[in-house]
Amino acid sequence: MTISRIPRFYKLSVEERHLELRGRLGLDDEDVRTLAGGALSIDAANNMIENVISTHALPLGLGLNFRVNDRDYIVPMCVEEPSVVAAASNAAKSVRDGGGFTAEADPPIMIAQVQLVNVPDTEAATEAILSRRASLLEACDEAIPSLVRRGGGARDIEVRTLVPSTARVPSTEHVPGTEQGRGMLAVHLLVDCQDAMGANMVNTVAEAVAGRLAALAGGEPGLRILSNLADRRRVRVRCLVPLHALETKEFSGERVRDGVIAASRFAELDPYRAATHNKGVMNGVDAVTLATGNDWRGVEAGAHAYAARDGRYRPLSIWRLGPGGVLQGELEMPMVIGTVGGTTRAHPGARLALKLLGNPGASELGMVIASVGLASNLSALRALACEGIQRGHMSLHARSVAMTAGATGALVEQVARELSELGDVRLERAVAILARIEAESRRPAAAHGIVAPPA
Ligand code: MEV
Repeated sequence: MTISRIPRFYKLSVEERHLELRGRLGLDDEDVRTLAGGALSIDAANNMIENVISTHALPLGLGLNFRVNDRDYIVPMCVEEPSVVAAASNAAKSVRDGGGFTAEADPPIMIAQVQLVNVPDTEAATEAILSRRASLLEACDEAIPSLVRRGGGARDIEVRTLVPSTARVPSTEHVPGTEQGRGMLAVHLLVDCQDAMGANMVNTVAEAVAGRLAALAGGEPGLRILSNLADRRRVRVRCLVPLHALETKEFSGERVRDGVIAASRFAELDPYRAATHNKGVMNGVDAVTLATGNDWRGVEAGAHAYAARDGRYRPLSIWRLGPGGVLQGELEMPMVIGTVGGTTRAHPGARLALKLLGNPGASELGMVIASVGLASNLSALRALACEGIQRGHMSLHARSVAMTAGATGALVEQVARELSELGDVRLERAVAILARIEAESRRPAAAHGIVAPPA
């Protein structure tokens, strides 16, 4: 069984971390070569997209301490922003003290949309389509035989009237397909995609039956494409954080809990704050989505559309007073991801990321991703509600400024430490500190009169 607590992992060198993973997760030589070698060859990249000239690397770190539904996970996170991995791991440790994350996932149902335009009688068209439900579902399944063999397939059909044929259209508003007396429908084909993300399959289904739907409606087919507002494929995650796991040197557990609850309330009341609150959630969600080779733009689109589902943009997670005075957090969001097919299999780094997670199915991966989102959110709110975000960010930011100034190896830490102590993390300062340290390291030999032995 994987144990996701690896105390002092951050103190190890990168090579020592690889060794640790070999022992813990049974990585083999090839896995370690993939980790050490940057994961994606130019050849593989050239087969993935067009006009390839190079690959673009980002850091891959491990989120530790995660426990979801009584199972430990070591979570690969791909992200350029300092502190995201440390913060998520830290919050996961507090949540672990309260029993870990409890998560559930809807069945992996994706929505394929078929737009129908120039529909002469939208009510009659709706009836005509729904009365052929069974044979239309059969036609959908015929288009995706391998998914049906794996246990998936079309599950239902819904018809939504976007413009009723009886609508009075102002003469100034000429929209082809919705002229006077003509309406527009969106037909939703609900497809169980199993462990696939499902984009290709649902698009195939939509294209396969669009002509028949248009004929039944007496209209014309328009767009045929999945919806990223995948509200049939949601995950929900919940956690309880005991007060002792919240307290810091300066703040009591009660004070931190109440600060997080007040921060949640702020996001619930104000879309400006909700956007930033959700950015904190997506710090974790995107990092795992990207590491596992999934389409993070799709997950982002779904998250924000869902956040605004009732016409007002809201936080994806909320924090409340839980049983016995603990802090209780909940997150719900659509989760359009897969663990078979596409980049998840074509990209060696993504394959390895899934292996690190124990090769989960799509629903299980979705629950882990949402847990990392909730952890990222918790750590941001906890910092914001207490000492502020800058103190923690400062030392990590200082490292990247030190590297930009040209520091390498142990000098990165040394320059970063001085920058943090000075509270001045400007690049000019880092360049000056680095120049001074380098000059000092050349000086002692002469200063102490040590003469190099003759060669
Ligand atoms: C920064 O990447 C994310 C935060 O702004 C999130 C938040 O404000 O809740 C710190």
